[in-house]
Formats: sequence, C-alpha cells, structure tokens
Amino acid sequence: MPDPATNPITADGQNAVLGIQQISKRFPGVQALSAVSLALYAGEVHALVGENGAGKSTLSRILCGIEHADAGTMHLRGEVFQPGSKREAEAGGVRMVMQEMNLIANLSVAENIFITQLPARFGFIRYSVLHAQARELMRQVGLERINPATPVHKLGVGQQQMVEIAAGLSQQCRVLILDEPTASLTDSETRLLFQQIAKLKAAGVSIVYISHRMEEIMEIADRVTVLRDGCHVRTLDTAETDIDMIINLMVGRQLDAIELHRPTPRLTETAMRVEGLRCGEKVQGVDFELKKGQILGFAGLMGSGRTETMRAIFGADKAEAGAIYLHGSDTPTRIRRCTDAVRHRIAFLTENRKEQGLFLSLSIRVNTTITQLRALSTAGFIHQGEEDRVTRELAGRLNLKYYATRQLVSKLSGGNQQKVVLAKWLLRNCDILIFDEPTRGIDVGAKFEIYKLLNQLTEQGKAIIFISSDLKELMAVCDHIAVMSAGKLVNTFERGDWDQERIMAAAFSAYK
Ligand SMILES: Nc1ncnc2c1ncn2[C@@H]1O[C@H](COP(=O)(O)OP(=O)(O)OP(=O)(O)O)[C@@H](O)[C@H]1O
Ligand SMILES: [Mg+2]
Repeated sequence: MPDPATNPITADGQNAVLGIQQISKRFPGVQALSAVSLALYAGEVHALVGENGAGKSTLSRILCGIEHADAGTMHLRGEVFQPGSKREAEAGGVRMVMQEMNLIANLSVAENIFITQLPARFGFIRYSVLHAQARELMRQVGLERINPATPVHKLGVGQQQMVEIAAGLSQQCRVLILDEPTASLTDSETRLLFQQIAKLKAAGVSIVYISHRMEEIMEIADRVTVLRDGCHVRTLDTAETDIDMIINLMVGRQLDAIELHRPTPRLTETAMRVEGLRCGEKVQGVDFELKKGQILGFAGLMGSGRTETMRAIFGADKAEAGAIYLHGSDTPTRIRRCTDAVRHRIAFLTENRKEQGLFLSLSIRVNTTITQLRALSTAGFIHQGEEDRVTRELAGRLNLKYYATRQLVSKLSGGNQQKVVLAKWLLRNCDILIFDEPTRGIDVGAKFEIYKLLNQLTEQGKAIIFISSDLKELMAVCDHIAVMSAGKLVNTFERGDWDQERIMAAAFSAYK
C-alpha cells in the first residue's frame, strides 16, 4: 500500500476529480436513483455499498456513459461531463469493469483485454505484439499460467473476471469503477487485485469500489458511500466507522445476530458416494461421500476443479472414469446427461447465472417456476395464478426487489438475478442440491436468508454441496469442508477441526 503521508486525499470539494450533483434516474416501475451527490478525489478508493437494487450499478453505468441520467450534472476536473456513450467516457478517462461479465466468449483472452485498442498494422492484428502485451497484464493479475490465445469461454468465471480486470488496467484512466470485482475471486486472487488497486491509487487514479464484502471495504477503502433505495444515505471515512454501522445504514435496521450453524446433525444415511471420478485435466480422481442432512463445503483455489467435478457429477461434462452411487444404493448410477441427474433428483445451481442459470429475456415468474412447470400445470396448461403465488412467496422470503412477477429478469439488479436463480432451484423437489457460489453478489441481509434456507433444507433430509470462494462463509455454514487442489480432493475437514490456515495449506498442497 502507498504511504498515506505521501499520497494525501484532497479533502476539499474543489479538487474532486469527478463531481456528481443531484443525479436521478427512473426505470419503469422504480426510481433507481434520487438526487445522488458525491465527489471522487484523486488517489482515493471510494466504496459504494447498499443492498441489492440500491442503485450502485446504475450510478456506475451513468458515470461511464452506458446509461443516461434523467436529471443532475457531473463535472470531470471542473469541466461539465456528460458522456453520451461508453467510448466518450473512456476518452475522458472514466472506465468501468462491469458486474455482469462483458467478455466475448469466442475471442481469446488477449483479444478481450485489448478489444478497443488491438495493435494493428495495415488492418491486420499483430498477434505477436498483442500476446506479449497481454502476457504482461495477465501476469499482474495472476493469470501467467494461461495462454493469451485461449478463448475466454474455456476459463472459469473467476478467471474471466480477472481478464475483465486486466482489460480495465490496460488503459490509462482517471476514474476506474470496479463493480463487484471480487465476487468470484478467491482470497489469493483478491490479494493480487488489491496490489493493482494500490498501484493505481498511488498514481492518483480515483477508484470506485463496489462490493458486498464488508471486510474488504474496511481494508481498502478510504471512504464509503451508502446508498439505500436509490438515495444517498451517508458518506463516511472508513477509519471512523465499522462494519456494523455501515450495515445499519445500508439496511436501515439492525440485523439480528442469527446463530448461523445448527448443531452438527447426526449424519447416518448416505445420499451420494463418488468414487474415482475423472474428467479432463481438472478432475483427476475425486472421491467423497455426502450424507443426508449434511452441508458439505468445497474449498479450493480458482481453477482447482470444484466446478468441473460438479459438472461431471451432474452429467454436464462426460466423465472418463469413476462411479456415482446414489441414495444409499450399492449399484452405481449412470448419469450421462443433465436430464439423468435431474431424474435422480439432483439439482445444480451454476456459478455463471448469465450463461447457465437464467433465461434473461423471460419474466421472473417463468424463471422461478420453469423447473416446476409440471407440478403447476394440468394437462399442459400452466396455472398462472398458482405460478404467481409461488413466485411471490419465494420472492418475499428472499427479499427480492421487483415490482411485478412478469418483469424481465434482465432488468433486475445483479444480486436480485442471483436470487431468482436460487428461487428456481429451491422450488424444485430435489434430494441432492449442488450450489456453486450461491451467494455471489448477494447483499448481507439476503445472505443470511439463504443460509437459513439451506439449514431448513437439511432439516428435511436434503444433502447439500456448497462451493464458495469465501472461506469465512464456508466455515460459517458447513458441517464438513472438502478441499480441492489441482484437480484432486486432498482433504476433508470437520467442523471444529478446521482453521483458515490449514484449509489454505491444503488448497495449495497439490500445486508444485
Ligand atoms: N435497465 C433497467 N430497466 C429497468 N429497471 C432497471 C434497469 N437497470 C436497473 N433497474 C432497476 O434499478 C434498481 C437499481 O438497480 P442496480 O442494478 O443499480 O442495483 P445495485 O445496487 O447494483 O444492486 P446489486 O447489489 O444487486 O448489484 C433495481 O430495482 C433494478 O431492478
Ligand atoms: Mg449491481
């Protein structure tokens, strides 16, 4: 971190890099921002916090020209700033790494990083230059092991996020907005990102940092602005506040301290046993047992093979070897495709909601009930009233911010989309539920609701696999934590017998 003494934050409004005055924005059915004012200073990390749907992404999109305000003004270094497009904002040095990934799946990592500034000569892209430049940026974000020519769709979500960040770093900027950059990063990748942020800060860049992870904010932000329902609640110096106070301002009430973990249940009946599972490079012989009523966490570094293991179990990828025994049976069950898994009452909530979890152009109602259509219909006719009722009930439990169940999912805030994915699978009657990063982008209050729901599901005898890159979350919620390293399941820890250091040591153990 740069020395604060040599890198003072200019505290008078005159020297703001970007001044935001009375910005308002309305979408059909919702006032996303109401007269929000804010000043961003050179060399400060300014955190933007608030519940799902509070207006954080909307404000960011206005700053970088993707969305236009209905009212209000902005000044960039004293000059009126009214970007008509993303390109115009970038010309002024205002850039954003978006919450929803923005990469082009079929282009390579290098092409995605330099998409707007591909080094060309006579119209031909100079790949040697491109790859050399990309390699340098990729090294800075810990992607040195990846070939810059790899198409991005081959990378995991966390790695894709790092590519986005590398793309943001590739350009000169005065204001860099990071919208939930660490949502799918593990601790070590987050460290790399923080090093980059420290460098930019020292160079006088003003950084807007959006996150639901309060510890991170306390660590790297100089100031915090709290938004609630589109209104500016307060801006505070991080040094003069604490997490409880910020949460209090965010939700406008005190959150009950919930006892997260119920006493470890007696786990007797087996729900699923996996033996010698192999699938490509990422799954190199995985064995484990999952009991009814158990929450089994999966920890590991980005790319350690957790998602790939689950995909192989679920039949999304074809396993080369291994056996899966279900519901206490001694005969292995063949799962060749996802429909087989679903038939055997296995659910899989995927980590990339945009690609796999949601139908963005359909309504909340349809997305929630799509896995359950048979139960809600008679002879092929869907009971819309019933569908609506079920959707509303779940939406209420998860505190979904919406105005009608017919609303399109693409118009929801990031965290609220994730809640719809969850609702979809919670509705389904499954015995084995695999959740891959279920709380990614979900605000503090709603996270607790999800943990409570998971507990309730185990009380009904369901077995849960919970992948998370947030180790604290795993330690709060799980009965056991399995650790994967370089495609192998290296260790399983029991509640009471784990600590962060031992889990991290296991996560690194199979890498040379
Ligand atoms: N294009 C749009 N059309 C209609 N409504 C929208 C659109 N974009 C955002 N909204 C609504 O505006 C409100 C603010 O959304 P925004 O995405 O800014 O929230 P957020 O604070 O970023 O939340 P999250 O933490 O979930 O990312 C939400 O109610 C959302 O549904
Ligand atoms: Mg958002």
